[in-house]
Amino acid sequence: MISRRTILAAGLVAVLAAPAVAQTPFKVGLILPMTGQSQSTGKQIEAAVKLYIAQNGDTVAGRKIEVIVRDDAGVADTTKRQAQELIVRDKVGALAGFGLTPLAMATAPLASQAKVPMIVMAAATSIIPNQSPFIVRSSQVLPQTAVAMAQWAAENGIKSAVTLVSDYAPGIDAETWFVKRFKELGGEVKESLRTPLASPDFAPVLQRAADAKPQAMFVFVPSGQGAAVAKQFAERGLDKSGIRLIGTGDVTDDDQLNGMGDAMLGVVTSGHYSASHPSAANKAFVAAFKAANPGMRPNFMAVAGYDGMHMLYEALRKAGGTADGEALVAAMKGMSFESPRGPVLIDAETRDVVHNIYIRRVERVDGELYNTEFATISMLKDPAKAAPKP
Ligand code: PHB
Repeated sequence: MISRRTILAAGLVAVLAAPAVAQTPFKVGLILPMTGQSQSTGKQIEAAVKLYIAQNGDTVAGRKIEVIVRDDAGVADTTKRQAQELIVRDKVGALAGFGLTPLAMATAPLASQAKVPMIVMAAATSIIPNQSPFIVRSSQVLPQTAVAMAQWAAENGIKSAVTLVSDYAPGIDAETWFVKRFKELGGEVKESLRTPLASPDFAPVLQRAADAKPQAMFVFVPSGQGAAVAKQFAERGLDKSGIRLIGTGDVTDDDQLNGMGDAMLGVVTSGHYSASHPSAANKAFVAAFKAANPGMRPNFMAVAGYDGMHMLYEALRKAGGTADGEALVAAMKGMSFESPRGPVLIDAETRDVVHNIYIRRVERVDGELYNTEFATISMLKDPAKAAPKP
């Protein structure tokens, strides 16, 4: 007689003997600057990607998601070599991350050759998605924030400005589009100053900007450098000079803002994400992020990592768990969803992110510095791409 136990045991053997899983895992090569000048970008994005997986499960459309993190230290040659290895050796189904524009630019041709989707979660120069049909962006585009800031400044009594940007592609985008829109609206740009990306010294340029006696100083530096700007701004007493500090949200980055001090109170910036964005989705995101990462506050990099994972999960679901790069990119085109930042649309034509740009003021709230949103420009497309084709 066959006992109940034997049947159960036989069943168990059958389960164990079945092919382990019908589908192979779907690997994501997440290349980030985990060390070096942009390490906060890497840490924020990695933490948010892990949070998304913890909240949504590590299996989607029958595929187990396996994230492989590589530290490129913000060096483009390293990013490119790591992307090559991830494609050839690890056979990743998607690449993601890209902490700085040069890192994304260096990798774009590999995404095209291998037909692997490349989700850009940090780099923000307008031209990036044009470099490969496999690029989809979840971060932001500098001309979006630059024109929003120019418009707010011109409409709020600021008639003259000096621009001060990091001397590389996103800085040039910020300068170009701020100057263009500010001048169109009747503003005068007294001087346009640039600082090197690596080891910048903000003291002399801030002094030169102040000497030009503009009503406002428009600043862009990449995430991670805002605190150094704030320190020099305060040390030179510029907060008491009558010159208003304005800029893109990269400067008053939530990762560093609370440590920047009271000299930043009242600074107005334009950005797509504030940790104090007053939506239920954002409150839940911030609470979960803080619980999983004690001592950290999510910044706009984190939200782009979180949303980038969401785009990949939804694309996998829509495309039935395929690893076909073209099908995954097609599934991301036109995708819209509610992000902790607010509504997000992936423009079907450009594969670039369309979202609200908020005008925010640095305020002390419950003892901490935050970017308090007070005006919204709804669903702004990259103005550098929005122009009608001739
Ligand atoms: C970029 O290199 O494209 C970049 C990096 C950090 C930012 C913005 C742009 O905050």
